[in-house]
Amino acid sequence: MFDNYNRKIDYIRISVTDRCNLRCIYCMPEKGIKCLESKEILSYEEIIHLCENFAKIGISKVKITGGEPLVRKDLALLIKGIKNIKGINNITLTTNGILLEEQIDALADAGIDAINVSIDSLDKNTYKNITRVGNVDKVIRGINKVLEYKDIAVKINCVPIEGFNEKGILDVIKLAQNKNIHIRFIELMPIGFGKKINGISEDKIKKMINGRYGELIPHNKSIGNGPSKYYTLDNFQGKIGFISAVNHKFCDTCNRVRLTSNGFLKACLQFNEGQDLKSIIRNGKSDDELMEVIRKVIYDKPKENRFLDLNSSEKFEENIMSQIGG
Ligand code: 5AD
Ligand code: SF4
Repeated sequence: MFDNYNRKIDYIRISVTDRCNLRCIYCMPEKGIKCLESKEILSYEEIIHLCENFAKIGISKVKITGGEPLVRKDLALLIKGIKNIKGINNITLTTNGILLEEQIDALADAGIDAINVSIDSLDKNTYKNITRVGNVDKVIRGINKVLEYKDIAVKINCVPIEGFNEKGILDVIKLAQNKNIHIRFIELMPIGFGKKINGISEDKIKKMINGRYGELIPHNKSIGNGPSKYYTLDNFQGKIGFISAVNHKFCDTCNRVRLTSNGFLKACLQFNEGQDLKSIIRNGKSDDELMEVIRKVIYDKPKENRFLDLNSSEKFEENIMSQIGG
């Protein structure tokens, strides 16, 4: 369906857990956060029921996120269930990749279409400094295993952070040199712990890339469901993308809404507006009533983010990224 700014909303990001096996500095405190109790989290049956209703209003693409989605038991069963829904024709996953190695066969079997792996550095120590507990070799093994499945598209998410992975950025790009992997640089957003550190601008990264690998040439076709602007580099198989929600905002073409793991439907990452769908379905309301609420949340989607105006009096999101779903 279309929202009140005439944007076609056909994509939902569904967080299946607020738990994570990493502690990335821009996302969580070192000791982690108090997580939701399992009864507060939507069951797979509830998520599938909601997806059937989302599909009725034209949502055709679903991204599974977390926290870290692969820490939730039997995730492949959920993927399979969503994939079978009439009207949903694309199901993808964003993961930190730590558990990919173990789970990729089941995910492939379930029909996953694409996987985005977050990897902020290929250097063992830098990766550990950013994630506090992660082992990058395990992630690389996971990525290589996904690449054995020719039908599953692979993208890398990398968040450049001042004083952490600056030097290693150009190495991350190398992943796209001989493999069909697209790399996306995600501008650090002032959400949760991301408010406490500084990102590196898109322009600066582009200059670094131009200096080492030659000129980035704009690729005018979109790839996947997201807002990334892509570029090609000579002699590279994969493309290089930039998602800069703060300084190059893409709200006028935003196509998405979000469902948190405890069942809150959010229309924009930055605002806490939305509706609690869990209580609607757990209180035995009809699908017609549910659909009415879903339609209203989508219709009322905010016009744009206000990352550059955090002092305004609007009601901004206070949860951290692992609770929202990225
Ligand atoms: N700003 C930008 N990206 C973030 N991510 C998590 N927190 C932030 C933030 N504050 C990224 C993760 C992952 C993706 C889902 O979101 O690294 O790649
Ligand atoms: Fe986990 Fe993602 Fe947060 Fe890192 S950014 S701690 S991988 S949820």
